[in-house]
Amino acid sequence: MQKKDPPILVTRPSMPPVEEYEALVREIFSSRYLTNGGALHLRLETALKEKLATPHLRLFTNGHLALECAIAALHLEPGEIITTPFTFISTTHAIVRCGFTPVFCDVEPDFFTLDATKLEERITPRTRAILPVHVYGNPCDMDAIEEIASRHNLPVLYDAAHAFGVTLHGRAVADFGTASMFSFHATKCYHTIEGGAVATGDAAYAELLNGYKNFGFHADDEIREVGGNAKMNEFQAAMGLLNLRYFDREIERRAHVAARYRENLAGIAGLRFRPVREGASQNHAYMPVSFNPFVFGANRDQVSDALKAHGIFARKYFYPLTSEAACYAGRFDPAETPIAREASQSVLTLPMYADLARSDVDDICEIVAGCRK
Ligand SMILES: Cc1ncc(COP(=O)(O)O)c(C=O)c1O
Repeated sequence: MQKKDPPILVTRPSMPPVEEYEALVREIFSSRYLTNGGALHLRLETALKEKLATPHLRLFTNGHLALECAIAALHLEPGEIITTPFTFISTTHAIVRCGFTPVFCDVEPDFFTLDATKLEERITPRTRAILPVHVYGNPCDMDAIEEIASRHNLPVLYDAAHAFGVTLHGRAVADFGTASMFSFHATKCYHTIEGGAVATGDAAYAELLNGYKNFGFHADDEIREVGGNAKMNEFQAAMGLLNLRYFDREIERRAHVAARYRENLAGIAGLRFRPVREGASQNHAYMPVSFNPFVFGANRDQVSDALKAHGIFARKYFYPLTSEAACYAGRFDPAETPIAREASQSVLTLPMYADLARSDVDDICEIVAGCRK
């Protein structure tokens, strides 16, 4: 098989028709309103409230700053936030950058989301909040987490960066917890180039988010919070409006890619597709596959290297665990979260995007299957 040129990356952003983007850019140019809550920003906020089935939603320049603002707006006393280490580093950094101590809870072996059966033992008198992650768009066991949180009077802030459009038993993920953060980064199945949002059912909390994302301003002369600058601009909002128009088609096309992977790699001993929680819808944001080297005959890194040699760049999402990142050396003990550690050593996320050609999926699968000893 020939080396892929151009290479195949783990993802590729879907682009709306350029003429439609051009038309919105013309609107921006004629309004000369570029940021600070322009007309397109307002339209996108309204449309996303409906799409995500949430009463209040605030847009941000990216998901990470959305998460930092969401934590700040909880107005917590200093202390600990319980989260998981099997996530993108942003989740842990946001907690630390807001001045809290992350306390890592292990994940469920099937879904890699925070294990509610291990949550209560991590709660201490210094626990201030719980920050679970809907990993790969697979929703957490939200009922179990929230039952524990409410007994301990703790807010639950979901990192829903991967979970755009996902529902659990027909209920939108944004409808759970105190709030949910979504990332609209270009690598996500719904994007605004860079971007993010916080959804919440709490009107007063949503009002606080306005301040945190805009230097604390609530009116011209009224600066209530020590806020930063995390506003979404009009060019991002334009991309978001168009991608929303095509979102259902995006998911449909991703579902075809996912089905082809499953068909090609079905029944290979030691290779496992990640199961989906019962009642959860799927957005096919990622294509994670786990390898058991003792059964499969090659480990995750060997499969990754074999793909790389053919110009195909899968990603080790999420390796290392956030608790193992060099910047946190010596602070956390990854042995306390053995399931997460095992996951981080065995999962490879294969290329996944709407227009990934069927023949490329077939080639990827052939290389993966060929790694078997
Ligand atoms: C789980 C998770 N949390 C937070 C973020 C941060 O989002 P952003 O890249 O939009 O800042 C990302 C993604 O990139 C993510 O995957």
